[in-house]
Amino acid sequence: MLAPRVAIDWSEWFAGRVSRMRASEIRELLKLLERPDIVSFAGGIPDPALFPMEKIRSVYTAILTDPVAGAASLQYSVSEGYAPLRRWIVEYMAGRGVPCDIDNIVITSGSQQGLDFIGKLFVHPGDTVLVQEPTYLGALQAFNAYEPRYDTLFRAGGTPAVYRAQAMAAGGRVAFAYVVPDFANPSGETLNLAERRAILALARELDVPVLEDAAYEALRFDGVTVPAMASLDVAASGGIERSRVIYCGTFSKTVCPGLRVGWICAARDFVGKIVLTKQAGDLHSATLNQMAIHRIVSEGFDAHVQTLIPPYRSRRDAMLRALAASMPAGTTWSRPEGGMFVWVTLPAGIDGAELLERSLLEERIGFVPGGAFSPNGAVRNTIRLNYSLQTEAGISDGVARLGALVARMQA
Ligand SMILES: Cc1ncc(COP(=O)(O)O)c(C=O)c1O
Repeated sequence: MLAPRVAIDWSEWFAGRVSRMRASEIRELLKLLERPDIVSFAGGIPDPALFPMEKIRSVYTAILTDPVAGAASLQYSVSEGYAPLRRWIVEYMAGRGVPCDIDNIVITSGSQQGLDFIGKLFVHPGDTVLVQEPTYLGALQAFNAYEPRYDTLFRAGGTPAVYRAQAMAAGGRVAFAYVVPDFANPSGETLNLAERRAILALARELDVPVLEDAAYEALRFDGVTVPAMASLDVAASGGIERSRVIYCGTFSKTVCPGLRVGWICAARDFVGKIVLTKQAGDLHSATLNQMAIHRIVSEGFDAHVQTLIPPYRSRRDAMLRALAASMPAGTTWSRPEGGMFVWVTLPAGIDGAELLERSLLEERIGFVPGGAFSPNGAVRNTIRLNYSLQTEAGISDGVARLGALVARMQA
């Protein structure tokens, strides 16, 4: 008989899929960003000074001082989410060119939960998920738990037949395509109409769902709105019940992320399964927060979003000006029309992670190396700069120092 063990060794107990849940190599470096003397372009979060604090305070007070609303807000509720909020989202989606009704909407705890649930519903181990290169790190983390492999949208030679054959050779199928079409995290890029149509055409050829992550969509500073992929597909397929696009929305980037309220909008056949997943996962998102978000957005969502645009636009402009003024020749960067990020491609041979190491030590400036956003570890001479959290002066100064460091590394 084996001798009883006093202390448990946890590493023996994890299921195989847990091996994919790894902290990234840059995590240790990013911990340094928490130090107060660091100028950080690493975050990907909204500026808390722009939260509608007064409004939030007053709606919570209103809900909790109303006996009926107060009791409902603290009670268990349905997994689909708070019906008045879902009705508001129906109107919002109609404005995005996606006619739907309340049964097409489920409230999720942030859009991140939607990404996890979709991975859970679609991915068999070894299946292929098609992603942009680079793509949102949090999506890779959500999907990784379900053990996919990744292939890249728009890659050379990426015909439907090749995607399908390589997925089969790897022992699975193409499970879905994941796209952040507007002001993407991390690239800041927006897909044009032709690119959106090309992804939809590919998805039809492969007959796979498309996950449209619209996290930043409302934060457009200039240029012209490009139709949501959901709206293109709903129009082409004859209605939401026939559409292959699953739209993930969120109030995190517009109202505030801490309340954790997002949504999925899709065909009922799919939404029904998400509701069951939600029931099993957390029963429902916090009702009090859903009620608060409903009051906040129904009393002036557009007006509130308009208060966010000028400061974020000025910070984007400050960053683009500073990059133009200080980056050495051979450096290129994206010019986002909205959102929170600029993607910088460094002169050949300069590694984003090495630059971070030196920049933290020598300049006390932080950012995220681009390799973190690549499922296959490519794009190493890239970095993501966030401008939503710094003042214009901080951006000008920080980027100037970073540019000087890149020039020193090149020399
Ligand atoms: C592209 C993208 N999708 C989804 C999310 C998740 O946001 P939330 O869960 O707060 O809605 C983020 C957050 O940074 C993001 O950048």
